[in-house]
Order: sequence, then structure tokens, then C-alpha cells
Amino acid sequence: MTDTAAAPARKRLFIRTWGCQMNVYDSARMADVLAPLGYAPAETPEGADMVILNTCHIREKASEKLFSELGRLRAVKRRREQAGGRMVLAVAGCVAQAEGAEITARAPWVDIVLGPQTYHRLPEMVARAARAAGAVIETDFPVEAKFDHLPEAAGGQGITAFLTVQEGCDKFCSFCVVPYTRGAEFSRPAAAVLAEARRLVAQGAREITLLGQNVNAYHGEAPDGATWGLGRLLRALAEIPGLSRLRYTTSHPRDMDEELIGAHRDLPMLMPFLHLPVQSGSDRVLAAMNRGHTAAGYRRLAERLRAARPDLALSSDFIVGHPGETAADFEATLALVREVGFAQAFSFKYSPRPGTPAAGAPHQVPEVEKEARLATLQALLREQQEGFNRSRVGMTMPVLFTGTGRHEGQIVGRSPWLQPVHLRGPASLIGRIAPVRIAAAHPNSLSGLLAAGEAVRHDQREEEPAPA
Ligand code: SAH
Ligand code: SF4
Ligand code: F3S
Repeated sequence: MTDTAAAPARKRLFIRTWGCQMNVYDSARMADVLAPLGYAPAETPEGADMVILNTCHIREKASEKLFSELGRLRAVKRRREQAGGRMVLAVAGCVAQAEGAEITARAPWVDIVLGPQTYHRLPEMVARAARAAGAVIETDFPVEAKFDHLPEAAGGQGITAFLTVQEGCDKFCSFCVVPYTRGAEFSRPAAAVLAEARRLVAQGAREITLLGQNVNAYHGEAPDGATWGLGRLLRALAEIPGLSRLRYTTSHPRDMDEELIGAHRDLPMLMPFLHLPVQSGSDRVLAAMNRGHTAAGYRRLAERLRAARPDLALSSDFIVGHPGETAADFEATLALVREVGFAQAFSFKYSPRPGTPAAGAPHQVPEVEKEARLATLQALLREQQEGFNRSRVGMTMPVLFTGTGRHEGQIVGRSPWLQPVHLRGPASLIGRIAPVRIAAAHPNSLSGLLAAGEAVRHDQREEEPAPA
């Protein structure tokens, strides 16, 4: 800001985020577009001038959280008004997109309802909300505009950063709301992605995770007018000086092409951990889900990926109790888990979502049965996760340090497999990659000691051969 411009009055912005990493990224972008208006982050909604709830619609429980939170915020808002102030309350994200005006009907104290594709218009909505008697509702779909209008000089995200490269989904899995809340698949041009990545690195990022609802369906316009897939984009990102690690999420088995598998073989900085949801191990259920792949196809894919990158570990999502799932189908899921082996996984009971084909399908699975299957599956997945963590004990691995731990003198980082790693070490390592010898495994993390006490040089990429 130049010294001739009047500094905007300082206002406090509280954002609460549910759902996927895309929502985390979007919340940061909303903060970016509001910063020029004088909004700075606040830790609590109490006393905030603006509160944004960035919502998720994926399962019933996720959506219901919005309404309980809105109940609490009504009182906060009233207290603020009684104190002579004003709190603008906005509902963003996938519930906003799916339910729109119903939100203000149920909670008339909401000022703004905005879908995921309209964040760049937030400043204008805030101005309109200040004048309007009723709520401002914006749930249009043109996804391109959102990325075109985001401010360039936004605040950095720190050592590990998210970068959305693809948004939306055309796959229409039977159970899923995402195609309805996020709209059709859209890929950002490669030049915009590369520019944002360079900016993130200049602001201190060492690791970037590319985001998309179907990130490996990426097909962005290349600088030369051709179309790049995700594998090609990763190769270009790997050239950025100062960037040490790349990841991407979430992938669909159907879009895992040869070029992308090749990127896992050729790019050491593409981390050996891949979230590749399979949902079920039964071909009957996979067909009913409209997933477009079979259990055998997924097994083959896992093999090809591991052949390309032998230390690759897989993570997955599972749904139990999709309509029509029998005990035998569920057994097939357990068999696939045992065979493929997962380092980590998320598993859910099928939750019927309004407007999706599976919600109205016959043969809904009783709740008790879903619960029993989920418990069985989760026990197996937990066992595999703990086994995977134990298998790291004794290894020396590069850890990217991201912050201090809860205990005095403790620092925390990330393993190549995304496990949190705790150890005693100097805070000067934060932002750097250093070799750590793993001494113990815990259910969700590892701990260890700095190996030989030496830090990898700041500008050196891990796993790169030392110059001869
Ligand atoms: N794009 C990703 C998934 C995004 S949603 C993919 O194709 O795999 C994240 C996860 O939520 C899904 O993988 C699925 O396991 C789960 N999920 C989605 N809809 C659900 C529903 N109706 N009930 C239960 N779980 C669901
Ligand atoms: Fe949902 Fe399927 Fe699209 Fe994933 S691929 S976002 S599960 S519709
Ligand atoms: Fe939820 Fe929307 Fe993400 S429904 S999982 S926030 S795309």
C-alpha cells in the first residue's frame, strides 16, 4: 500500500471451515479477497465484524453441523448488536450451493449465502449486505471467473501450501453431491498454476499439494496452447527452484494415466504417498456406484504405481452400506484391503444425499448393518495403518519441519508419507528438510532423532544425488 492511500479501518474476520482441502484453500482465498477491505483474521467469532462458515454437504452429518453452528452464532450476533456493533454472517461452500435460499429461510439472521464459485465477489456482497434488508444470495456457477479475480499479492500459506488446479466433477458417482455443488470439471491454465506456485515458494512454501475434486482429470491449457495432463504439469512444477516436494489429491482411479504414473517414476520430489479412493472392493457395488472401474482394475493400478515407485504407499476412501451392498460385497472390500494394503484411509457409512441417484435406490442397507461393517473395516484399516507406521521404525527419512511441537524444545515435521514426525531439535530447522532416524511409531505419528545432526542444505532438494 502506498502512503497516500487511506488505510481501511481494521475489522475482524472469523472463518470456520468444514469439509475437504478444497474448502481449506477456498477459506484462505476468501480471507485474501477481504484483506484489502481491512479484514484481518480473528481467532473466535466473539466480537468479529464478519463470520464466514465454509460448509460441506458430503454427508448428512457434515451439513447438519452448519445449522447447530448457526444457532450458536445467532446469540453472538445479537450480543454484538447490543454492544452497538455489527456482525455480517455469511454461509459459503457446498451447503450454500446445494441449499441456497433454504438456509436463510431456516436461519433468517444469515446475511450472505455464497456458493463456491462466487468468492471473488465477496467484497461487493459485503457492501450489498450492509445496505440490504434481506440476505444476499449468490450461487452462480462460472468457475473460471473465481480464479481470474483472486488477488495476486495474497498472504502466503507457509511451509506447506495448497494450490487448486482443478475443480468440479463430471463423474456423477451414484452417492455423491460434488458434481451438483462444485459444477462441471474445470482445469486452470498451466501458466496460472505455475505463477501461483512460484509465488507460494517465494512466500516460503517448500511443499505444494495440488488440489482438485478429481485432480488427475486435470487437462489445462499449456503455455504453447497444447493441453497438459497432471503428469506434464507436475514435471513443469518440479523445475521451480526452491520447491522441494509435490503432492496431489484427490485422484480417481479412472484418470491415472501412463504419463502420471511416469511422473511417480521420474520425479523424486513427487512424494511416495497417494490418496486413491476405491470406495468398494465389489464389482457389483462399484458398478452401482458408477465408478467406472473394477476391483481388479484397481489392484492392477496399485501394482503399476508400485512398480514405478517402489516405496509408494496408498491411502483410500471407502463407503460401506451403499444401497444393494450385501455381506458378500462387503467381504470383497475386506479382501481388497488385505491384498492392496493401505497406509491410511477414510471410511464412511453410506449417507443418502438429496438429489443423488443412490438416495432413491431400492435395497437401502439398515443402519445397524452399516455400523457393524464400518467397525469391522475400520479395525482392519487401523491395523494396517499401525503396521505401516511400525514399518518405518529404524528408517532414516527426510522430514520437512513445519513448526514447533506441544512440548518445550520439540519440533514437528512431515515424513514423505505424510505422517507427522515429532522430535527434539532446534527451531532453526523449521522450513528445512533434515534426515531423521525413526525411533518409535504411534497410531497417527512417528517420533525420532535427527540423523547425524546435519540439516539438508536449504536450497538442496531431498533425495537428489550429491554433486560428484
Ligand atoms: N473425488 C473423490 C471424493 C470426494 S468426496 C473421489 O472421487 O474419490 C470424499 C469421500 O467422501 C469420497 O471418497 C467418499 O468415500 C465419501 N462420500 C462421498 N459421498 C458420500 C456419501 N453420500 N456417503 C458416505 N460417504 C460419502
Ligand atoms: Fe464425487 Fe465421484 Fe466426483 Fe469423486 S468422482 S467427486 S466421488 S462424483
Ligand atoms: Fe464437502 Fe464440498 Fe469438499 S461437499 S468434501 S466441501 S467439495
